Amino acid sequence: MTDLRVAVVGCGGMGTIHARNLTALGLGEVVTFADAVPEKAAALQAAVGTGTVSTDIRRAIEDPSIQAVVIATHHDSHPDYAVMAANAGKHILIEKPLALTVTAAQRIVEAVVANDVQLMVGFQARFAPLVTRAKVFLPQSLVSTGQMIDPRWGEASWAQSPDRGGANVISQGVHTFDLLSYFHDSEPVAIAAGGGAFTHPGSALIDSTVCTIYYANGSTASAVIGDFGPAHHVKKSFYQLFDGEGKSATIYGYFAGLTLGDGKETREATTVAQLSPEEQDDYTGYRALMREFAASVGEGQPIRTGATAQDGLLATALAIGAFTSIRERRIVDLADLG
Ligand SMILES: NC(=O)c1ccc[n+]([C@@H]2O[C@H](COP(=O)([O-])OP(=O)(O)OC[C@H]3O[C@@H](n4cnc5c(N)ncnc54)[C@H](O)[C@@H]3O)[C@@H](O)[C@H]2O)c1
Repeated sequence: MTDLRVAVVGCGGMGTIHARNLTALGLGEVVTFADAVPEKAAALQAAVGTGTVSTDIRRAIEDPSIQAVVIATHHDSHPDYAVMAANAGKHILIEKPLALTVTAAQRIVEAVVANDVQLMVGFQARFAPLVTRAKVFLPQSLVSTGQMIDPRWGEASWAQSPDRGGANVISQGVHTFDLLSYFHDSEPVAIAAGGGAFTHPGSALIDSTVCTIYYANGSTASAVIGDFGPAHHVKKSFYQLFDGEGKSATIYGYFAGLTLGDGKETREATTVAQLSPEEQDDYTGYRALMREFAASVGEGQPIRTGATAQDGLLATALAIGAFTSIRERRIVDLADLG
C-alpha cells in the first residue's frame, strides 16, 4: 500500500511524527500540509519534500484527491475538523484527546458512523512491542494499576490553557485511560477520583488525579496521572496487570521494560535493548500505529489494535468523569455524562 493520499492538519510536533512515518514507511504521500500558522506548514512541507502548503483547512480536508486526514491540532479544533473530514468521506487519524467534552466527542462518533469512515485515535501505546507481549501473555486484566506522570507543565503551554488544552489529565491521562481499557478488554462504566489543581494551584483546571475505574465486566483498575514529576525508576509510565488466575505483567520505563510472572516466578524479563532493531526503533509504537491506519484505509481492514472513535469517546469520558468525581466527591456513571 503506497498510494494513500493524506492531508496533515496541524504541522507541529505530532503532525511531524505522523507525516514522517507515513512517508518513511512508504505507506503514502502527504498532499497538503495545513496549519493556521503558515510557517509551521511550510517548514514541515520543506522537511518532507512533497505536497503543498495551506491555511485553508476546509479546502485541505475536502480535497477530492485525498482519502485520509491526519488531525494533529490543539484539542479545541479536533471535533470540528473530524466532523468536517467524516462528512467529506475521509478516513481520520486524530490525535488524543478526541475532544474536550463528552458531547463534542459524541459528535465525532456520530459523524464517523453516519459516513462509514475509519477513525483511529493516536493512542500509540497500544502498539508498543512490550505492550503487545504483555497483552499476548495476559489478554484480559482483572485488576490493574496504570501511571503516567510528566514533569510540571509550564503555564505558557497551550496544553495548559482551558480552551485549547485542558491540562494534564485530559491531555495526557487519556493515554492511561485508554490503555487500561485495552488491557481490561471491557468498556469503562464509572469512575471515582480524587485530585485537583495540585501542580498549578489556583487554576480552574484539574492537573492531577488518583482514580478507580469500574468496567462493564466487573473488573477494576486504578490510575495515577499528573504533571508532578516522573518517578526515577519507572519514569513516565508504569502499568501492572493481574489476571486473577496467577499471571501478572509489569510494564515500566515508558514501555522500555517488561516482566511477566505466573504467580510463582518471573517467566520473562525484557528490556528494550533485547528487542529486534525494528522494534527498538519503534518501542513506543508510533510507526506500528501508522501501519495499521494505512492498512485499515487502503485495504479496508478493520482497526484491530488501534483505538476507534468509540474508544476515544470512552477515554475522554473517563477524564471528564474524573473531573466531575473530584469536584462533586462521588462515583460518576459515564452514561450520565454528555
Ligand atoms: N500521541 C502522543 O503521544 C502525543 C504527543 C504529543 C502531542 N499529542 C497530541 O497531538 C496534538 C498536537 O500536539 P503537538 O504537541 O503536536 O502541538 P504543536 O503545538 O506542536 O502543534 C500543533 C499545530 O497545530 C496548529 N493548530 C492549532 N490549532 C489549529 C487550528 N484550529 N487550525 C489549524 N491549525 C492549528 C498549530 O499552529 C501547530 O502548528 C494534540 O492533540 C496533542 O495532545 C499526542
